[in-house]
Amino acid sequence: MPLLDDIEPLKLTALAELAAAPDLAALEQTKGAWLGGNGRFTALMKQLGSLPKEEKPAAGKLINLAKQEIEAALLHRREALEFAAALPQEPTDFTVPGRRRILGKLHPLTQVTDDIVRAFRKIGFAVADGPELEDEYHCFDALNTPADHPARDAQDTFYVASPERPLLRTHTSSVQIRVMKSQVPPVRIIVPGRVYRRDNADATHNPTFHQIEGLYVDKKVTVGDLKGTVEFVFRELMGSDVKIRFRPHYFSYTEPSYEIDFTNALVKKMGKDWLEIAGCGMVHPGVFENVGYDPAVWTGWAFGFGIERIAMLRYGINDIRLFYENDVRFLRQF
Ligand code: DAH
Repeated sequence: MPLLDDIEPLKLTALAELAAAPDLAALEQTKGAWLGGNGRFTALMKQLGSLPKEEKPAAGKLINLAKQEIEAALLHRREALEFAAALPQEPTDFTVPGRRRILGKLHPLTQVTDDIVRAFRKIGFAVADGPELEDEYHCFDALNTPADHPARDAQDTFYVASPERPLLRTHTSSVQIRVMKSQVPPVRIIVPGRVYRRDNADATHNPTFHQIEGLYVDKKVTVGDLKGTVEFVFRELMGSDVKIRFRPHYFSYTEPSYEIDFTNALVKKMGKDWLEIAGCGMVHPGVFENVGYDPAVWTGWAFGFGIERIAMLRYGINDIRLFYENDVRFLRQF
């Protein structure tokens, strides 16, 4: 029967033409040529009417199956062509440099923080993070800071009016506790972050500023490691003429504790011999007990310093408030 014998070869030709369509426009044309009102396949279906009644069901079924195949091939080819059209026309060179920042630059505090982090990364420190809204346990109790310590006074710290007395962290030392509670030693971290104190803003104070905390816990860690580390980082940051010295001090979470003084040509130029730059010490055994580290096995040191202080020194800035005013005449200089 001529009609039935036509179906298969016509279908194969249609499939071949669809698969060969070079682009979407050509595909739509091919579609019209086969399935449009005057299309070749449409014509075949029209002939169905002229068949004898008993042949119609079998022929109709065959034609429908063929039509479904053609429509599936059409969709398939359209998807492939659309995908190809969405690809870049030029080949991509993955070695070209990334797009440059054409506007603005990093805030000086961000630049200094990045430099400090880079220096510590060189000697194996990882960056850790913690919440700015803290609780008294992580900010004070776990750091052996007793209830009558002035740092806990409502006059000195921002508390949130809520029964659990959450507070804005007064130092990044709270993150020491969080890190030690969440991992086993050895620990070698730094924590850059924002801290808060109830200070009135003046040339050297602001109610919020930034610190970097450091914590190193391992076996047989010494004050010598602490001094060598601090010296390395400050020389990376401020030049090889940097000298540091440790002065005995008191912090409740370290024993012994020190303040770190710093000097270089810049400090001398300011007419000073030394500048106080950080607090530090050997982690107090009580702190290790609070986080579940055995103080007979583990030793460690910690430090904390203010980022603004270092940035002011580095760039010769005499008023801390300049950092927060976002005056572009100031910011453009860095
Ligand atoms: N938390 C202290 C501050 O805000 C700085 C500090 C001192 C951090 C001694 C320490 C440390 O980790 O051991 O002034």
